Amino acid sequence: MIIAPSFLSSDFSHAAKEARRVDKSGADWLHLDIMDGHFVPNISFGPAFVKFIRPHTKLFFDVHLMCSKPEILLEPFAKAGADEMIIHVELGEQVEPLIWKIKQLGKKVGLAVNPPTNISAVEPFLEKIDLLLVMTVNPGFGGQTFIHECLPKVQQAEAWRREKGLRYQIEVDGGINNETAAECARAGADTFVAGTSLFGARSLKAAVTKMRKILHANDPALADLKV
Ligand code: DX5
Ligand code: ZN
Repeated sequence: MIIAPSFLSSDFSHAAKEARRVDKSGADWLHLDIMDGHFVPNISFGPAFVKFIRPHTKLFFDVHLMCSKPEILLEPFAKAGADEMIIHVELGEQVEPLIWKIKQLGKKVGLAVNPPTNISAVEPFLEKIDLLLVMTVNPGFGGQTFIHECLPKVQQAEAWRREKGLRYQIEVDGGINNETAAECARAGADTFVAGTSLFGARSLKAAVTKMRKILHANDPALADLKV
């Protein structure tokens, strides 16, 4: 189980310190939300910001590109220190070349699907990706409410992974707290992005520890072993 705090909910006025705080929290990854003001109605930060925080943590950088033209951003983010880049399936015919470009850059590939998009849209790409991101809110802002209707997509992603013998990770992002994380874990998710619920806690470290304990208790793989 991977816990990836979303940096969007951190205090940007102390970005370096916040990156160090996540590093020491026991979290596994750092999730970085890139918004271009076009694909989503908000703007966050770019490669220069990612480069600035890179020296402050050794954590894996999970870069979520909510952008209409990721092709112009892949190389800059790769150079800035991204370990994985996630693009959206809603980009249609751009998806295939973008996957190859990310691979060429030597980075892990993620593919995201928005709540209104049918999960069948990702099926043709499953053999080519390292991670499937099932969005559990409409992207653009932190602090939104988890959309329960997205849970069957997690179940479908898990069923495909098993049936096809694939190994991609299943990530959920949006409105993830201890309760919704547990539901997603039971549905088959293994990678959990959380902004508000983790950064809003008095102690990030305590919040990560608690979420991990809850995920462990709801891990279907471990449940099988207990039987
Ligand atoms: C939403 C972003 C999320 C966001 C999650 O557009 O992709 O990563 O930061 O924030 P919370 O956990 O507050 O919903
Ligand atoms: Zn995200």
